[in-house]
This record gives sequence, structure tokens and C-alpha cells, in this order.
Amino acid sequence: MPENARIAQDGRLSIAGVDLCELADAFGTPVFVYDEEHLRARCKEAVEAFGPCVAYATKAFLCKEMARLVVEEGMVLDVSTMGELAVARAAGVPPERLVMHGNNKSQGELEAALELSVRRIAIDSFDEIDRLREMLANGTSRERQPVLIRVTPGIEAHTHAYVMTGNEDTKFGFSVASGAAEEGIEAIAAIPSLKLVGIHAHIGSQIFDLDAFVREVEVLAPLIQSHGLSELCIGGGLGVAYLNDERAASITAWAREVRATCKAAGLGKGVSVYAEPGRAIVATAGLTCYRVGTIKRLTAIRNYVAVDGGMSDNPRPVLYGAGYEAFLARAADAQRTFDCRVVGKHCESGDVIVAEGRLPQDVAIGDVLVTPVTGAYGYAMASNYNRVPRAPVVFVRDGKARAVVRRETVEDLLHLEP
Ligand code: LLP
Repeated sequence: MPENARIAQDGRLSIAGVDLCELADAFGTPVFVYDEEHLRARCKEAVEAFGPCVAYATKAFLCKEMARLVVEEGMVLDVSTMGELAVARAAGVPPERLVMHGNNKSQGELEAALELSVRRIAIDSFDEIDRLREMLANGTSRERQPVLIRVTPGIEAHTHAYVMTGNEDTKFGFSVASGAAEEGIEAIAAIPSLKLVGIHAHIGSQIFDLDAFVREVEVLAPLIQSHGLSELCIGGGLGVAYLNDERAASITAWAREVRATCKAAGLGKGVSVYAEPGRAIVATAGLTCYRVGTIKRLTAIRNYVAVDGGMSDNPRPVLYGAGYEAFLARAADAQRTFDCRVVGKHCESGDVIVAEGRLPQDVAIGDVLVTPVTGAYGYAMASNYNRVPRAPVVFVRDGKARAVVRRETVEDLLHLEP
């Protein structure tokens, strides 16, 4: 639950003083709701834990207001496409607060990053080195562009295969074990307009076991030392609890573990060690409100509770088999004994939000159903499947709710067509 979630005596749920049933009436459903103070608290925690180089991975959730908030709280922003870069720039994020990522950056993305002189470019492939060499060859005298090299430490973190990125069989980065990382470092060093400042790696996402990060640092520290580099970015990946029985480490505990390992590996104060969390900043701050539209009781099979969103606003269950809790905004602390599958309105059976859900027995048509922990990779991965307009994003704080992204309309969809 977001930090400022409260359950009133009558069971109604509010976030930061805003009643969710009333919010659903005012903004419609489905709607993404974020506890703004919670977002700010996680950013502050990240800066406190990792220092001012720590970056927010915007792919987890980005809109202009979020970009502004992240900068206000002192973080850097990781962007990995022209679109993310454009939203950050439109929000007024200065280039020195932007890190450009991507395993297949386009010519345009690289040009934009160089033109803006972003804080760092994380170089991902030999082709990218070639492209940068060519682009910089006939450039006039310019400040050297600081870059990181993204490497693959050869670590299999325990997570879903789709979000595992530190293992050898991956499209990302330069392998340390094969010698590609050393080769890449040499190739970058030979380009006068680039300045290699550090190593970057990202071993995966939704990782609960901090040992994976320890192993990552143990592989990367010797590279930093042997090349006299000054930055080590361990990527993102810290897991969050989605279900009642899950437990996740805090950003603070994560940083403590990483710092201790760096110290033990001999990295001194001259090396700045930081991370770029996405999920751990935004996931728990956000939740989704839907409205129940249909309830089907299939005797001796199962109960289906259908809501007005689905895989278009949360594709994570169908993509990764991700689990969520669900409950009613009017009775958040009620006993949940009605076994049901919470499904959406899309035209396929995979359109599941909670496969094995539990709701109060008196769940009824028109109820506002809430799924918590949808702040990361929900709105960010939303689609227009079945030509469903995307849900709005509402920030709540001090008893007030404001749309930071309005609901899409059918007209918005039709605008794309001549
Ligand atoms: N840095 C890099 C280079 C990344 O590729 C990512 C995530 C992050 C940082 C942030 O990772 P986080 O702290 O959020 O785990 N759609 C998937 C997650 C994909 C993660 C992609 N990269 C999901 O919904 O689980």
C-alpha cells in the first residue's frame, strides 16, 4: 500500500486524504492513482542511500510531472528512447541530469544525446562504438562526452527469464567473461571525443535476493580498478512485494549491501557507486482503481469478476505470470472469502488481472476494485488493445487529487489516422 493509505472506520480506503470511491467517480475508471509523498520519499531515500548520481529508470513510469518530481528530489533520470528523452526535456530536465541508455540506439537518439551533451551515454555494443566514432570524426572541437560501458557480468539473478539481463545469453552489453568488455573499453579509449568514466551493468528486474548484486559487484570491481575508472553503476532491479506474503529489501538496505561489497572489493572513496532503480521508486506508490461490471458464477468451476480495464492497463500478469492482490475500495479491511478470477474486458482468456483472487462475499456490480502496487510498468506498458483509450494518471497529496495525464479519448486514437 502507498505510505499515505488509510482505512476509515467504515472500511473506505483513502490515499493522502482522498477517498478512492470519490476519486473513481470524479476521474472515471480505470485510473492509476499515485501517492505523491510516497514517490518523493522513495526518491529521497535513493539519494540518501546512493548519493546524487543515483538515477530513476523512467521506463517504469514517466510523464512530465514525474520527471519534474524526480529532479526536484535530486535524482538523475535514465532514458532509453527518443520518447523518454523528449518527455524529460519537455518537463525541463537539464541534460546534465540525463543518462542515455538503449541496446539499439538509433542514429537520431545518439545524435540527440551528443548534441545535448547528456550526463552519460551508456554504450552497449561495438556497432554503437563505430557509430559514435563516425559521428564524432568530423565534429568540431567539443567537450569530451562522458560515457559508461554497459557490461554483462555473467550472473543469473533469480527472476523471470524475460527480465533477466546479467547472464551471458543476452542482447545487452559487453560480456566480461568473453573479453568483449576489455575490447570495448579499448575501442572507446581510442576515440578522442569520448571519455570513459565508468562501468554500467543491470542484472535484471524484480530481484529479491541481494546476493545477486553482491556477485555483480565482485565481477565489476576488478574492471573498475584495472582501468582506473571512477564510476560503478549497478543498474536497477530491486524487487518489491506485490503479494501479502512477499517481503522485499528497502533501497537503503540494498545500498548498504552494495557499499559493503565495494569496500571489501577494495573500491575506495574515489569511485562513485550508484544504482538506477525504477520499480523500487514507483511500484508501491501507485495503485489502479477499476469498476466491477460483470460477475459470473460458473458452478463447480470458478467465479469471474470482470472489470473495465485489463491487459491494456496491466499486461504484467499475462506477460510474466505476475500476481496481484485485489480488494474493494469501500471495504478495504473486509474479510475476503469469495474466491474469484479478476479479469478485464479484452477479447481473450489471457486477459487476467488476478488469477486467484479473493474479494468480499458481497462484491457487486459498480464496486470500485483496487489492485495495489501497479505504479511500475503499468501505465508505462499500457496499450490501446481493442482500441481502448488509455487510463489517466492521478497524483494525490494533502487531500487533493489532480490528473497529471488525462484519460485518452477515442478522438485521440482517431487523430493518428488521415
Ligand atoms: N536500468 C536498466 C538499464 C534497465 O533496463 C532497467 C529495467 C532498470 C534500470 C530499472 O529496473 P527496475 O529497478 O525497474 O527493476 N516490464 C518488466 C520490467 C522490465 C525492466 C526493464 N529494465 C516488468 O514489468 O516486470
